[in-house]
Amino acid sequence: MKIMEIEGNRELSGTIRISGAKNATVALIPAAILTDEEVTICNIPEITDTDALCAILNELKVDVKRASESIVINPKNMKNIEIAEPFSKKLRASYYFMGALLGKYKKAVMYFPGGCSIGARPIDLHLKGFEALGATVKNEKNKYIVEAEELHGANIYLDIASVGATINIMLAAVKAKGTTVIDNAAKEPEIVNVATFLNNMGARISGAGTSTIKIEGVETLHKCFHEVIPDRIEAGTYVIIGALCGKNLKIDNIIPEHIDSLLSKLEEIGTQIQVGADYILISKAEHYKSTNIKTLVYPGFPTDLQQPFTVLLTQCDGKSKVTETIWENRFMHVPYLKDLGADISVKNQTATIIGPTPLTGTSVVATDLRAGAAMVTAGLLAKGKTTITNVEHILRGYEQIVEKLTSVGAKINIKEI
Ligand code: EPZ
Repeated sequence: MKIMEIEGNRELSGTIRISGAKNATVALIPAAILTDEEVTICNIPEITDTDALCAILNELKVDVKRASESIVINPKNMKNIEIAEPFSKKLRASYYFMGALLGKYKKAVMYFPGGCSIGARPIDLHLKGFEALGATVKNEKNKYIVEAEELHGANIYLDIASVGATINIMLAAVKAKGTTVIDNAAKEPEIVNVATFLNNMGARISGAGTSTIKIEGVETLHKCFHEVIPDRIEAGTYVIIGALCGKNLKIDNIIPEHIDSLLSKLEEIGTQIQVGADYILISKAEHYKSTNIKTLVYPGFPTDLQQPFTVLLTQCDGKSKVTETIWENRFMHVPYLKDLGADISVKNQTATIIGPTPLTGTSVVATDLRAGAAMVTAGLLAKGKTTITNVEHILRGYEQIVEKLTSVGAKINIKEI
């Protein structure tokens, strides 16, 4: 098992370069099998989720060549075989292979485990979309068999603006006969990045980034070159760290408008930030005003940043509230923040934080990816040493986190125990 050790309460200065977006990458890699030609994708983050998806490509006999931060995928000789549980359970986003295999072969057979620590994470909207396109779905325990004689265009209304369902339906619809319209589609930037990739391959998708996406089915998809957008959640995490420990800390290679909701909250509490075309410069302020956040679908405040942001709220003067509306169990970081010295209570889906409270290093656990990011954020702020276990969660979504933080003055390491 890997553990992380942090000697906190150090000033962080210098430049952190943001990597490609995990939540775009985990959809782009499965989407690449929709063509029979070679595709090249650059700015791929070197994180364990990328490794897990490449392992599935290898299982499907897809030719994969990885260089640093880029990948060349050639599905010419691939086989549509069943994706076994050891591969699909490593990350929930393996479900994108359902849409991609269905879109390419009209058949997908894969094990897909339900639930995860932050919630039940059903995929009913994905499956409803596949059925609307003409597929039948059989589900025996954790094994899904999704197949269609023919895939035809459909008008699909999503009861919830689900990121995963929006992308998965796009993947299944790109080669369907006729036109598909997804209503109440999610609008996250990662969806636009995937739609751009598919259009670069010859798909005919319009409206990505709005709540109505139109997909006109095409016969074939061809080779292309594509670039992953910067990771807005990684960027937001380091901006929050800068608000707590930074001195002219530069977060570089970002798209600032992708974290507008975070930036407006940071201005509201009194953070000194300079926003450039593709970077943010941030320094810790002496005092912060309290505020309330409510997580919402994009462009609202992102649920993936509420855990790190909660650490910042422990340093704000007075009472702040965090209401989580997307996931039913996303407050598992709270007990560990309390162990570090925070004053937080949770009732129903709202955490109430009283600040400012000094944080003191201790042993904590990364219960999920973004709770782990909150533990790193708190450990960098806390006086003394913080030890974080279950660090594998963090390495799923933050490329070279030790190297990036060390380069700006943090004392942080990971060791095997
Ligand atoms: C994506 O998950 C992200 N993951 C999540 O980030 C992120 O928290 C989430 O979107 C919301 O922004 C990836 O992109 C790989 P949803 P996804 O479908 O697509 C319910 C991280 O930390 N729902 O938008 O799985 C669902 O239960 C991860 O990087 C259904 O009810 O999220 C949730 O309440 C964590 N039925 C809500 O919709 C469905 O069929 C939003 O889920 C699908 C979803």
